[in-house]
Amino acid sequence: MRVLFLSSEIYPFAKTGGLADVSASLPKALSEIGVHVKSVMPLYRTVDLEKFGIVPTGKKVSVSVGAGNFDFEVYKVSNSVSHYFLKNDHLFGRDYLYGTPEGDYPDNDVRFGTFCWAVVKLIEEGFFKPDVVHANDWQTALTPVLISKKGLKVKTLQTIHNLAYQGIFPKEAVERLSLGWELFNMEALEFWGKVNFLKGGIIFSDAVNTVSPTYAREITTPEFGYGLDGVLKKYSYKLFGILNGIDYDVWNPETDPYIYVNYSENTVSRKEENKRLFLKETGLSGEEKPLFIFIGRFAKQKGIDLIMESMEELPSLPANFAILGTGDTGYNSFFNSIKGKYPNIFVEVAYDEPLSRKMYASADYLLMPSLYEPCGLNQMIAMRYGTLVVARKTGGLADTVRDVDKPGGYGFLFEEFSPEAFLKAVKKAVDFYYNSRSRFARLRQFVMGIDFSWNNSALKYMRLYENLIEGKVK
Ligand code: GLC
Repeated sequence: MRVLFLSSEIYPFAKTGGLADVSASLPKALSEIGVHVKSVMPLYRTVDLEKFGIVPTGKKVSVSVGAGNFDFEVYKVSNSVSHYFLKNDHLFGRDYLYGTPEGDYPDNDVRFGTFCWAVVKLIEEGFFKPDVVHANDWQTALTPVLISKKGLKVKTLQTIHNLAYQGIFPKEAVERLSLGWELFNMEALEFWGKVNFLKGGIIFSDAVNTVSPTYAREITTPEFGYGLDGVLKKYSYKLFGILNGIDYDVWNPETDPYIYVNYSENTVSRKEENKRLFLKETGLSGEEKPLFIFIGRFAKQKGIDLIMESMEELPSLPANFAILGTGDTGYNSFFNSIKGKYPNIFVEVAYDEPLSRKMYASADYLLMPSLYEPCGLNQMIAMRYGTLVVARKTGGLADTVRDVDKPGGYGFLFEEFSPEAFLKAVKKAVDFYYNSRSRFARLRQFVMGIDFSWNNSALKYMRLYENLIEGKVK
């Protein structure tokens, strides 16, 4: 079985979010169970060719659309048959993936639309011979549309990692990308007078999935559907939820080179040593207090507002807090402004993977108060590192965290999106830490043993591909 996996970001080549991690770890897990996967992404200027041994294959492909002629050169990682890149410096030789801090690039329709055209041409010319094309998010969502338009005998899967980003452009995109005005209708790409790439991917692919079962249900409702709930409901017969996994080779406290002291399920008490050294490094004090961490993009989605609105109360709790992240300028300036202000709150406004690993290893609790969460990877990483999770019960968080008040529970969930509900959960975790010592110790050992690897989910993707090839979905 041959799968062509399309993504606008793949770790370690380029990353802005969880999509990059999944676009690396899922193809890897699929290869391990015998699926032949090739992945393709744009070759941004920021990709380090030398470091990764990325070289030209000699293959070129031209795309001719309303916006002009675009030549792409196919590159690949020299010693691998799995990582491919499409190079066009005019479109992708820029400093950012999607736009500057001031805003998205105005030609993102042409950038990612012609990328999709180029992939389809490479299939037509026999350079790629996939049974299934697996598109991820809006950036590659025109591929299923073009494959269907051309009637190619290739099955298509569209994965939604975050429905809030749909790739919506002025209707001129129809001509700029030579899509044909027949596609500009409500049953195709048209969306409130504009062109919606992801809507196209949903309608024209043979199957659609999102990255957790709960989010798959949520997106068919107006609250989470971002205007596409009706479409998703209509196509719910081909809509699935498959929970993401994390790469257990990459996230392993036994071998992680960045943490202070390595440990395993049987030596989980060594987290204390990590905590002691982390507090020392960051100027916090009080090893006997619970350490809460937040790691993530500073974006509305991640529930940053709940943390900001709790800032009056957190300093008075018998606990330490460490916050690491960067993102929207408003949030960045808020967190910069409280740096060093409270003795029990450490703040770092940055993207810093080594520091994040030390935090996972040192913490007692991870905070994840997300407004919505298609899957979420941080909670799985945290538990793999023996850190209990305090999270809002939404999307993938609801599928991976079970509240301590339930039989077999091992985390702290709250439902209402309010600072009061958030603080109540935090205080409950503080109290649990001081007053349920032995249960706390047992739970952190327990969460380390939960299987958040790709083992199960990679098999689910493989079965879905098989069903597509056998024509069982549509
Ligand atoms: C997006 C989602 C996140 C998910 C990730 C990978 O970043 O916001 O919840 O885990 O994609 O699928």
